[in-house]
Parts: sequence; C-alpha cells; structure tokens
Amino acid sequence: MAAIKLMISCVIYLLFIFFVQSSKAAYNVISFGAKPDGKTDSTQSFLEAWASACASPQASTIYVPKGRYLIKAVVFRGPCKNRITFQIDGTIVAPTDYRALGNSGYWILFIKVDRLTLIGATLDAKGAGFWACRKSGKNCPVGARSITFNWANNVVISGLTSINSQLAHLVINSCDNVLVRNVKLTAPDKSPNTDGIHVQSSTGVTVSGGTLRTGDDCISIGPGTRNLLMNNIICGPGHGVSIGSLGKDINEDGVQNVTLTNAVFTGSDNGVRIKSWARDSNSFVRNVVFQNIIMNNVENPILIDQNYCPNNQGCPRQTSGVKISQVTYRNIKGTSATPEAVTFDCSPSNPCRGIRLQDIKLTFMNKAATSSCKNIGGTSSGLLMPESCL
Ligand SMILES: *[C@@H]1O[C@H](CO)[C@@H](O)[C@H](O)[C@H]1NC(C)=O
Repeated sequence: MAAIKLMISCVIYLLFIFFVQSSKAAYNVISFGAKPDGKTDSTQSFLEAWASACASPQASTIYVPKGRYLIKAVVFRGPCKNRITFQIDGTIVAPTDYRALGNSGYWILFIKVDRLTLIGATLDAKGAGFWACRKSGKNCPVGARSITFNWANNVVISGLTSINSQLAHLVINSCDNVLVRNVKLTAPDKSPNTDGIHVQSSTGVTVSGGTLRTGDDCISIGPGTRNLLMNNIICGPGHGVSIGSLGKDINEDGVQNVTLTNAVFTGSDNGVRIKSWARDSNSFVRNVVFQNIIMNNVENPILIDQNYCPNNQGCPRQTSGVKISQVTYRNIKGTSATPEAVTFDCSPSNPCRGIRLQDIKLTFMNKAATSSCKNIGGTSSGLLMPESCL
C-alpha cells in the first residue's frame, strides 16, 4: 500500500516538474528582430525580449543564439515578475566608435533585478579607440564599464567572457547574493583602468573560478563590501587583487569579511594589496584572509599601502584614517619580481592591528626576498621567508 502511495506521489511530482518546465516562457531575440550580423543595431530587439520576459508571471528564458549582435548602451531594468535566465550563446559587440558608449558610463546595465541567471555571453567592447584617446591626452568621454549590476539580488553570472572593455569589465554595485562563476576577462596589460571585477556596497558576493588578464586590478574591492569570497582565481597581468583605494571620503563604509583562497598571480604589479588614501576617514578593513596563493614573478606580492595620494594633492596630514585589522596571510609561495616581497606601510595615526603571517615563502632571484614594516602589530608563525618584520 505504502509503495503504491509512494509511486503515485512520484508520478504527481514528475507531472508537476514537467508542467513547471513546459510552462517556462522562452523569448528568442531573433523573433524580436535581432540580427546576428554584427552590424545591425539590435538594441531595441533585446529590450523588447527583456520587457516580455520581465512581465512574464512564469519563470522565463531569453535566448540569444550564436552570432554577433551590435548593442548600444542599454539598461535592463527590474523588478521583474519572476526569475529570468538570460542565455547568451552569441557575442555582443559595441559600436566601433568609442564615443557611442563613452558618455554613458555603462554599456550593459542591469538595475534592480532579482533572481537573474546570466549564462554565457561574450562581450566585445572594442575599447582600443577609447584607450588611445586617453593616451593621447585629448578630451575624452568618461568611458563605459562593460557590464554592471546595480541594486541586483540573487544573481548568477556563469561563463561570461569579456574582452577589451573601455573601463572595468564587470561591476557589482549595491547588490546582495551574487555568484560569479568561471568568467574570463581580458584586456591588454597597458590598457588603463580596465579592472576585471569591481565590487562595492555589496554583500554575499562569490567569485569562483575565473581568469582575469587585464590592465588594472583583477578584482578591486570598494567601500561597503561585506562577505566576499573569491576562490580559484587566475590573475595577471594587471594590478592584482586590491582592497581599495579606501578612505578617499571622510565618511565611508568599510570592508569586512573578505576571503581569497586558491589563486595564482602571474606577472602582475601586485598580488594581494590593501590600499588607502593618506586622508582622514572613518573607513576600515577587517577580517580578511588571503590563503593558498602562488605568486609568479609578481612585483609586490604582499602589500599594504596607506600612503596613496596621487600628485600629493588633497592629503593635508599625509596620514590615513582607515583602520586595518585582522588580516591573515597564509600559505603564500612563489617568486617576487622585486627584492621586497612583503611591504606593510600602515598609517602612523591608525596602525594596522592583528596582522598574521603564516607559512610564507617568497623568493627573489632564487634568494629570500625582504620585508618591511611600518606602524603595524601582529603575529607570525610557521615557515617565514622573508623573515617576518612583525
Ligand atoms: C563571511 O562571509 C562568508 C561568505 O564569504 C559567509 O559565509 C560567512 O557567514 C560570513 N561571516 C560572517 C561572520 O558574517
């Protein structure tokens, strides 16, 4: 009897699953007029597909088949009625003239979406014209970030590829619960301000797997970031993983509970860095773990720099108000491209506290590298090369 009951409930359950699956609405951008030729402006078609999906009471999928789609600056706005899967097998290309995006600050922008899963997508922002403009010192537009999420919650970004962004590739701003999985972000080593991922004012962001080869930070972590986990990251060239710059403003939300685990840095300017302005601020950094990291020929593998003040302007007391505490560096090994592999240059008015070094082995030209400490307190244990200056 029980077995029959179980069978019946199984059948009902399967029918239910089938019903839920088959009732899922699907919107193919081609049927909204998008052209996969890389030349025809498909922005309006994408927006119409989004509007339909967003208004759908059932979960829905927006599908972008293989091909190249020309898209101008675009906003996908929520809230939407149900969850949306945006599956992009194609490549999204920006207009050839960098000025078309340059004045908006964004290219692809999601605002106030909840329960969005973005699968795939290759973004080609064609940033070279914009970088050249900046290099020439001409009057250039502000530039566009390639893909931005503002006030978005419960988002999955999986398998995104982005090349040659004008500015940052992927920005997560004022979001909660975002998973960024296996992204590939690429821009030339010398392209200015092409951060890989920038996170700020956000909680519960996970970056898991990813290859970040950029001109600026692989991942930059701005004010108001909490509970950020990064694992299995390949970084470099570029400026490494950076918390900061913080403390530009007197009132600023701090950064807490950040973990980077299992990462390889190759040929980057920095490995793991915490950076703050030499200005008054009530900002802070606390509870940070950097662990299981390999450095290959990295200029500053471990760095805290509280003396940031470009052109020595706007830093009257030349000292940072940002309080840095409880930062652990554990199992970090490899090679430094400069003699000094570990640099802690903390604020004279707010010394770093609770800094922990454990099992560090960093060499320079096959010899132990050196370390330097200013205004810092903490402990060290295990194998330590360079010798700890704590
Ligand atoms: C720290 O962040 C992780 C996610 O990275 C989260 O699971 C954990 O609960 C957070 N810890 C605290 C004390 O908030």
